[in-house]
Parts: sequence; structure tokens; C-alpha cells
Amino acid sequence: MEAPLTQTETPITTIREVGKHEGQAVTIRGWLYNLRESGKLLFPQFRDGSGVIQGVVVKSQVSPEVFDAIKNLTQESSVIVTGKVRADKRAPGGYEIEIADAQVLQRVKEEDPYPITPKEHGVDFLMEHRHLWLRSPRQAAILRVRAEIIKAARDFFDDRGFTLTDPPILTPAACEGTTTLFPVDYFDEQAYLTQSGQLYIEATAMALGKVYSFGPTFRAEKSKTRRHLTEFWMVEPEIAYATLDDLMRLAEEFITFLVKRCLERRRPELETIGRDLGKLEKIDAPFPRITYDEAVRMLQDAHAKELIENKFEYGGDFGSPDETYISLQFERPVMVHRYPAAVKAFYMEPDPERPDLALCVDVLAPEGYGEIIGGSQRMASYDLLLERIHQHGLPEQAFKWYLDLRKFGGVPHAGFGMGIERAVAWICGLEHVRETIPFARTLHRLYP
Ligand code: 4AD
Ligand code: MG
Repeated sequence: MEAPLTQTETPITTIREVGKHEGQAVTIRGWLYNLRESGKLLFPQFRDGSGVIQGVVVKSQVSPEVFDAIKNLTQESSVIVTGKVRADKRAPGGYEIEIADAQVLQRVKEEDPYPITPKEHGVDFLMEHRHLWLRSPRQAAILRVRAEIIKAARDFFDDRGFTLTDPPILTPAACEGTTTLFPVDYFDEQAYLTQSGQLYIEATAMALGKVYSFGPTFRAEKSKTRRHLTEFWMVEPEIAYATLDDLMRLAEEFITFLVKRCLERRRPELETIGRDLGKLEKIDAPFPRITYDEAVRMLQDAHAKELIENKFEYGGDFGSPDETYISLQFERPVMVHRYPAAVKAFYMEPDPERPDLALCVDVLAPEGYGEIIGGSQRMASYDLLLERIHQHGLPEQAFKWYLDLRKFGGVPHAGFGMGIERAVAWICGLEHVRETIPFARTLHRLYP
């Protein structure tokens, strides 16, 4: 008999909630995750997106059709099962289900089996099957932590008087350098996918005071590092009348909030992922602050002691290995401030004490993760900003509106951007950012 999908005699529940029905018969709608057989007993494991539960099928207690259906079930076949929930300390989630009935919706064929088996697969293979790989409990746990970080980021700013303002994605000009722009044919004009919402939220900050944006951003990165995506999501606060010091305090408070929220609400997921929680428990404000000059000295000392190969030349930007080394020296995120203006974006305010430096900060996550936040105080002077726009070879016409912000009631202001994927990679303790987003876009991947 065809059982209806949404109306059953027994209550429909999720595996996560199954404990509420101990001793009762329930219906679970999911997929076959694994199957063990032992004589007249079958031990199918089901997953439903909320968790994994072990079922027990006793040959003498079900119809021959149900027994055979489960016995012949293939991995990832979709199935609806009904049975009594029983507490069992040895079971993975603490409960088992004694199967009484089963309805197979779609059986995966033996000749074309589910490609991801419990054996080891290479990352390229898994990325090629990302649409299926997402079903593994570890990948699902990572996506839940990602969702929590996004929710926490929004709660953090919403609860502190910030207003969410959405910048455009199609833009006429660069924000973060002209070498990583994705061009878009915009009718008769040249447009680009946005690299950052910053310039636009500087305008909304002048209108609303404290604002933030959260959206997709794009960089035509030719880098093949474990930190670079071509499409990633950035959360960016921008605050009128804020200075670099205000910004650093906000950044450390923000990151601490995110980590504590994940420890509070996503501990089981972090455990599934295998995260060392002790490391996260150490994260608390204040974070160490060092200048660019001090960071360079650290790198040069390390080179002199033959701890690192690269001899860092003063004045350059840090590469991934440099950031890795610096961030490995601290148990908390470290805030590196005042980089040479020459290696940073055109819009940064010079340090009045040393105009060759920019009033900017990068927050490097510990354990070698490197930069997760980049931010700065914004340039106040109309004339200097115009000069920088020219120096950087940017089209003045496209920045006319941006220059207006310095003409009509300019104020000191500051903001930062945090890449969600970098934060997820660090908080989950992942090797590579490609696992932090459902479908990663990288130099060599546009499929699936
Ligand atoms: O340091 P970035 O380039 O700064 C900006 O875009 C500023 N306009 C932000 C602002 O002040 N409002 O990028 C900010 C953050 C980085 O710290 C990193 O976390 C992330 O965005 N990010 C990337 N994440 C993944 N892949 C990439 N290719 C990234 N590039 C930057
Ligand atoms: Mg940066």
C-alpha cells in the first residue's frame, strides 16, 4: 500500500527530535546511509539531514516484503520507515528505531551505484561530486556552522544599532585593485562584479550612521591557495565618526562573539568535524595588536634563525606563508595594523604620524589560518583621494559620487570586511576554504 508522504498514522519526526518520542512509533523520511546484516537481523542506518539513526529489522517481526526491501536497499536510496523509538546508550545518537514498516521511494540501481562510498576518495573526486558530497555528515555539519556564523554576524550588528544596507553587485569600477575584476557585458557599458560593498556602504553610513552589508563578492583570483575563492561572501560594517582604534575594538568583540556563539550552539557539529574545541575556548578579547613594522621584524628574526625560508623585504605585503608564520605565534587572533600605504587599497587614510603608512588593520586568525578581516579608516581629504584615484589608474568619472562623500559633510569613518569562508575554515579547523561553502568557485572549478 502506498503510504502518503505527509500524512501517516504515526507522527513524522526528524532524527534530531526522535528522543521526544521514546517508546512510541514514529515515521522518519530519509535516505539509507549504511547497512549491516547479521543473520536474521538487519541494521540499516538512515540519515535525514538532521542526523543519523540506526534501525533494527528483525526478520520474524516484519513482512517478508519489508525485510527484503531493506535487505536489498542500496546506499542513498530514499526511504520512509516507521518503527518504535528505543533508547540505546551504544547507538550513535542515543536512540534506535525498531523497524515495522518501510516504503522505498527511489532505489539506487546496483549498476549505477552512489559514487561516494565510505572508503577514502581524493578531494578532486569529491569536489566533482560536490552535489552528493554535501550529504556526508561532516559536510552537513560544516554548513550548519556556516549558517550559525552568518546568523551570529547578523545578530551582532543588528543588536548594536547597525542597519543592514545592501550594496549593488554590478558595479562600474574597482574597489580592491584592477587585477582581480570579473568583467560583465552591461548593455553598451563595461561593468564588473563587485569585489566589496565598501564604497557603497560608506555612502549609506553617511546616511544612517552605523551600517553593514552582507553579500556575495567576487575576485578573479589567479591564486591557488587554500584561502582563495573567486566568489565568496563578505560581511562589512561601516561606521561614521569611527577611527582605527574603534574599528579594532569592534573587530575583536565581533570575532569573540562568533566563536562563543558556535561553541554555545554548534558544539555537536564542531565535534562531528573533529575540531579541537580547547583552541576555540581560548578566544577572547582583547586580541594582541602589533604594527606592520613589528610583524616584519618577527619574520626577519625567524628567517635569521632559519625557522622560515623566505627573507621578507620591508615594504611588501604579506603572502600566505608570512601570515601563517605570524598567526602561529599567537593563541588568539592577532591584529596587524599600519601597513605601508603603497601595498594597500587607494581609499585608506594615511597615519598622520607617518604618512607612508595607512591606518588599516588585518586580523590574522591563529593556528596558521591568516587573514580573516581587512579594514581601515577611510580617506577624509577630497584632494588626496582624487590624487590616489589617479595614481591607481582608476577612472575618475566612476568615482565622482564617492568623492562627493568628501565634499558634503565628510567625517572620519572606518569599516572592515570579513570573508565568511575564511572564518568558517578557521572555526571548523578545515584545511581549505572550498569545504566552507556549498558550491565553491575557484580558479579551476565552475562545476557543479
Ligand atoms: O582585505 P579585503 O580585500 O578588504 C576589502 O575588500 C575591504 N573593502 C573590506 C572593507 O574594509 N569593508 O577583503 C576582506 C576579507 C579578507 O580579510 C578575507 O577574509 C576575505 O575578505 N577575502 C577572501 N575570501 C576568500 N577568497 C578570496 N579571494 C578573498 N579575498 C578576500
Ligand atoms: Mg586584505
